Amino acid sequence: MDDVTSTWLRHLPKAELHLHIEGTLEPDLMLTLAERNKIAIPYSSMDEIKAAYQFENLQSFLDIYYQGASVLKTEQDFYDLTWRYLLHAEQDGIVHTELFFDPQTHTDRGISFDTVIHGIHAALQEGQRKLRISSRLILCFLRHLPEAAAFETLKQAKSYKHWITAVGLDSSEAGHPPSKFEAVFKQARHQGYLTVAHAGEEGPASYMWEAIQLLKVKRIDHGVRCTEDPKLIQFLKETQLPLAMCPLSNVKLRVFDSLADHPIKTLLHQGLCVTVSSDDPAYFGGYLHQNLVETADALSLTSSDLIQLCRNSIQASFLTPSEKQHWLQRLSLATTAFQ
Ligand code: HPA
Ligand code: ZN
Repeated sequence: MDDVTSTWLRHLPKAELHLHIEGTLEPDLMLTLAERNKIAIPYSSMDEIKAAYQFENLQSFLDIYYQGASVLKTEQDFYDLTWRYLLHAEQDGIVHTELFFDPQTHTDRGISFDTVIHGIHAALQEGQRKLRISSRLILCFLRHLPEAAAFETLKQAKSYKHWITAVGLDSSEAGHPPSKFEAVFKQARHQGYLTVAHAGEEGPASYMWEAIQLLKVKRIDHGVRCTEDPKLIQFLKETQLPLAMCPLSNVKLRVFDSLADHPIKTLLHQGLCVTVSSDDPAYFGGYLHQNLVETADALSLTSSDLIQLCRNSIQASFLTPSEKQHWLQRLSLATTAFQ
């Protein structure tokens, strides 16, 4: 992509919908926090950390990702992590972000739910004030753990309900279908949370149906394996249920051999509400803009494809209808200025 197009794309208003805040922990911050908190990690330099980021599949990434998160201890650590992400988001033209946090990754090692959410929330408020980036927070349950542990986490979230928009489902997909969490998602919906879930990343298309029918999700994270089921594609097209895709993640975790094999362009042209996000950018080699640029180059996306991806990101967000209208108008103005 040439510099003029890249700059144009960078400045289009867009939303990020699939971002794990723990996945924005850059190697330099990992080293700083390890030292600050006197936590031993098996790396002594940025180069050693980066060299470890060669993944065979989702699980080989998760093992390293959970170990990395062990340096996060205080409210200030969670604040610093989130603030640094927001500075990246600003660079990429992100006007609204919906980020995941994994409380169980922290509460299981003795860090309180309160510490985690206070640090993240304070940075998000600062992001709204100083960077004009709006945000929503999504609490993810770790699907490799029992449903009882998810119920316990939902209980811990109770006094922070007003800070949390939705619950989601992440971690090891294969062997942990959405049906395992039907009851806790039902309770979360009764309490007023929206729902999303990772499905169809490594797991089959049937997991996407389960997320839709049993967890009543408003959006699916990844969902790339919908291509195996024509009925599902038709359903996604008719309902415009959004898919929050992360192309660089999929290549890093070997879901596809290369970006050229990614189905996002085909699905976009079939009329599905597909979007691009960065997932775990510190581990997968790029934030949102980089995902868009590399995907555009590999699949020859046109400027109107890129505009549609930005439009979809706003449409698929949990913003109010009038907020969506505002950003869609701003997007439209920004694109007519270019053409
Ligand atoms: N998939 C599942 N769980 C995750 C991911 C992902 O891409 N990133 C962080 N946790
Ligand atoms: Zn993810």
